[in-house]
Amino acid sequence: ELSPIDRAKFVSAKRAAEFVEDGMRVGLGTGSTAAWLVRCLGERVRDNGLRIRGVPTSARTAKLARDVGIEVITLDDARWLDLTIDGADEFDQELNLIKGGGGALLQEKIVATASDQMIVIADAAKEVESLGAFPLPVEVIKFGWRTTQALIEETLISMDVMGRTSTLRMNGDQPYVTDEGNYIIDLHLNRIENTRQLALVLNQMPGVVENGLFVDICDVVVIGNSDGRVEVRD
Ligand code: A5P
Repeated sequence: ELSPIDRAKFVSAKRAAEFVEDGMRVGLGTGSTAAWLVRCLGERVRDNGLRIRGVPTSARTAKLARDVGIEVITLDDARWLDLTIDGADEFDQELNLIKGGGGALLQEKIVATASDQMIVIADAAKEVESLGAFPLPVEVIKFGWRTTQALIEETLISMDVMGRTSTLRMNGDQPYVTDEGNYIIDLHLNRIENTRQLALVLNQMPGVVENGLFVDICDVVVIGNSDGRVEVRD
């Protein structure tokens, strides 16, 4: 018996899995919602002989995909993908996203951008009027990370975007390290006014590898509710 939130995640994943067709190269997202998707696809591979090749967006997802019987290839093998299905931490009316709560934003953005279509699966609570209540993850290289953090804060303060509130993501008493060996700085912004500009400014700073704003990347959001209702929005 699933909890209400898991039921919402499951029904959105289940519905999104129907977008996957035989022969497709599919980007496989990361997080608890994406994990449901991977399990649903594994079931179709096992029970219905669905033939797909999956490109995972994290070591976690790669392991799960193999465990459920999905053929795993690298993005370099695939080069381009038909479809990516992934979760998100927030989405707005324009289908712009904050991602990276699970720490996999860098591979997720590369894989989503390499795909003809990106479908986001999410429970209804992740819909927001404007992005930013969820802390915005920024992946930075380890070298000089304190300087990079200070540069981000100075720049955003001068743009009137934030107060002095960014935090290094931790894993117990150690910094959290991404699959690519980098750190993550979470920006506590509350409300992002100019999503597009913020995404560009962040990525221009030395030391910043990528940020969790997905602008004009997502094509469809499949929204799940705990009562089992699903809304497909594009
Ligand atoms: C992983 O880095 C994230 O982008 C996830 O897609 C996001 O955090 C959603 O995760 P859940 O499905 O677990 O909420």
